[in-house]
Amino acid sequence: MRGRWLVTGGCGFLGSHLAARLLADGTDVVVLDDLSRGGSRENLRWLEERAAAPGAGRFTHGPVDVRGAADVDAAFERHGEGLAAVAHLAGQVAMTRSIEDPRADFEVNAHGTLNVLESVRRRAPGAALLFSSTNKVYGDLGRLRHVETATRWTLPDFPEGLDESQPLEFHSPYGCSKGAADQYVLDYHRIYGLRTVVFRHGSMYGGRQHPTYDQGWVGWFCERALGAKRGPLAEPFTISGDGKQVRDLLHADDAVECYVAAAERAGECAGEVFNLGGGMQNSLSLLELFAWLEAELGVKLAYRRIAPRASDQRVFVADSRKARRRLGWAPRIAVREGLRRLLGQPGAPA
Ligand SMILES: NC(=O)c1ccc[n+]([C@@H]2O[C@H](COP(=O)([O-])OP(=O)(O)OC[C@H]3O[C@@H](n4cnc5c(N)ncnc54)[C@H](O)[C@@H]3O)[C@@H](O)[C@H]2O)c1
Repeated sequence: MRGRWLVTGGCGFLGSHLAARLLADGTDVVVLDDLSRGGSRENLRWLEERAAAPGAGRFTHGPVDVRGAADVDAAFERHGEGLAAVAHLAGQVAMTRSIEDPRADFEVNAHGTLNVLESVRRRAPGAALLFSSTNKVYGDLGRLRHVETATRWTLPDFPEGLDESQPLEFHSPYGCSKGAADQYVLDYHRIYGLRTVVFRHGSMYGGRQHPTYDQGWVGWFCERALGAKRGPLAEPFTISGDGKQVRDLLHADDAVECYVAAAERAGECAGEVFNLGGGMQNSLSLLELFAWLEAELGVKLAYRRIAPRASDQRVFVADSRKARRRLGWAPRIAVREGLRRLLGQPGAPA
């Protein structure tokens, strides 16, 4: 990938995968990250090590909070000239926290995105601007016909999953703040001609996520299952709702390839939205994930049910055929292979 990149939230889960991918390619990367997320300092050190490898691109980190317009603009004044691409990934990422503190959520996700857009408009108008939105902008999808099976909910009218034509319906403060940002990013193409692209992500997984109960559920349950293998857990798992919620899982290594493809084709796909996920073949319900973990690790996982989460979608599987057509992208890492990698099982692919 030619030209320098700037990645906001580059010390996070997705951002560190993207920055590492670019550095390995010899691309220079500037990361703006306030290191507020647990684990982001470790990811920063890990990236610094990657950047020290022979042939790696140059790595710069700025401890910038995207809520501060002047600080964001100063960083773009310094680094903006000649940028090939900006990936705006910094965000407040937990739905639960957005409900506890909607103002803080809005300030990071909506206001922070506006700050980045304004600086790109002023300082780097030729750069591709790639934004990580969410499938939560489609609401809880309760209006669709759902059918229940023994282990999962299904959407019989959408055998390939849901594409970008689903109507927008922002639910929850997180849905509203990300949705507002998503729409601003698209509008900055319409009104100012910026080369913006929006990715609406479902659940991603992979290394360096530092999962918690309310963010990174795949990694969280994998960690708990590994814990159960070492000895009885102090507390049983809790699951929200009936455990039949279905998500298509996308490995972060696959996701970042889509960002690179979009930056390379920003001229053709500016102003476009892409639903990104692992697709139907990489979908799992919570109950199916538990059953797989039990078989894979030879453990018994006791769980306790709690109330469903607000606005939880019973099924979200992305129909990513637009990304395949327009960006030549498709996920390569099958979900069980990716999960084995995450569990660090002997014989798992590196
Ligand atoms: N991981 C997923 O499954 C998923 C799904 C849908 C959407 N997304 C979106 O993708 C993006 C990246 O997600 P992630 O999983 O890598 O999250 P993450 O929490 O691991 O990374 C976010 C990074 O942003 C930084 N950050 C937070 N607030 C900041 C601020 N005010 N200023 C500067 N930096 C700040 C954090 O320190 C962290 O390093 C987010 O915008 C998220 O909404 C992720």
